[in-house]
Amino acid sequence: MRPIRIAIAGTGSIARLHATALAQLGDGATIVAATDVDAARLAAFCDSHGIAGRYDTLDGLLADCRPDLVHVCTPPGSHAGLALACLRAGLSVLVEKPPALSLAELHAMAAAQGKAGPFLATVFQHRFGSGARRLRRLICDGVLGRPLVAVCHTLWYRDQAYFDEPWRGRWDTEGGGPTMGHGIHQMDLLLYLLGDWTQVQSISRRQARRTDTEDLSMAHVTFASGAVASVVNSVLSPREESYLRFDFERATVELTHVYGYGEENWAITPAPGFEAEVLSAWEAGEHGVNSGHAAQFAAVLAALREGSAPPVTSADAVRTMQLVAGIYASASANRPVSPADLGPQSPFYQGMDGAGAVAGRLSGAAL
Ligand SMILES: NC(=O)c1ccc[n+]([C@@H]2O[C@H](COP(=O)([O-])OP(=O)(O)OC[C@H]3O[C@@H](n4cnc5c(N)ncnc54)[C@H](O)[C@@H]3O)[C@@H](O)[C@H]2O)c1
Repeated sequence: MRPIRIAIAGTGSIARLHATALAQLGDGATIVAATDVDAARLAAFCDSHGIAGRYDTLDGLLADCRPDLVHVCTPPGSHAGLALACLRAGLSVLVEKPPALSLAELHAMAAAQGKAGPFLATVFQHRFGSGARRLRRLICDGVLGRPLVAVCHTLWYRDQAYFDEPWRGRWDTEGGGPTMGHGIHQMDLLLYLLGDWTQVQSISRRQARRTDTEDLSMAHVTFASGAVASVVNSVLSPREESYLRFDFERATVELTHVYGYGEENWAITPAPGFEAEVLSAWEAGEHGVNSGHAAQFAAVLAALREGSAPPVTSADAVRTMQLVAGIYASASANRPVSPADLGPQSPFYQGMDGAGAVAGRLSGAAL
């Protein structure tokens, strides 16, 4: 079995984590090339990971070598352009979150895929821990009964200096604040577990940081199943926590961590009378895989080997990005928003600011 040949675009912080995670997969993958607009970063990255192919542009890289997969690890503003260049050259691409600045960009990227490849996938690594996969299986099998109430809190802390990085805190380069950049991880996991959302009502604030975007959003989300979730996305919270809680008819399931989870981060509390069946089903499922890039990359490589669309697919990424857009749109218009409100006619389809979500310039009619 020959290794999957990978190229990396953008050799900053998250690219180092990609290289480490790929190394954990042994002979399954090899990084053959990298590109960065910053020559010093590119050289340091390639030196420390033994990468031979070094390019100052993606076009140069694509002209010279044909990797099986390109990991896009640049700031969000360049994701669409780089991903489209790869897809149009016939190469599959795995894009870091958020996959694009807008739904419009993401749909253009998704449309450049082929039925049998090239494929577009997004990094949402928290779907791939065994706890999440086990919970999803229990939900699908009906073991826990109907989901009724959920909590999805991303309470993280980023000081003002974090926003010194020129691309952070700006609609045109980052695409949003903690809703788009941080809470998106937890919201993606919420949607993976609870399925389609039907309505969101939210507020969005700039409480303390000097940025163009929000630094806090709070939302109520209704699901097709009838479940309702409370969602908070904050970068103002000194005691950091990523907290998801699901109250089903037959059990409460909780996940408490910050940036990644293992088995020890999950707790299950059966409802009275359901102890035996709930606990035995929870014990029986898949165990021992932490959430993280390595777990997702293993699933991506397996899909590529069998010629199927790697996870997280563009359809799943669209659903998550629609919820992000819905939170901004609802906060701006101060009314509930559904996915149907977020089609190409909506300014929130073209950009998460809707040309001024935080400033609140739009009326409900403009959605
Ligand atoms: N999945 C996660 O848990 C996670 C965590 C952190 C960051 N991220 C995401 O990873 C992405 C990158 O974040 P980061 O913290 O590594 O940023 P970074 O600023 O540390 O690194 C980005 C790199 O991309 C390079 N770059 C910029 N434009 C380029 C272009 N057009 N072509 C080639 N190289 C280019 C920069 O020179 C820099 O070296 C963002 O989308 C971010 O949201 C994901």
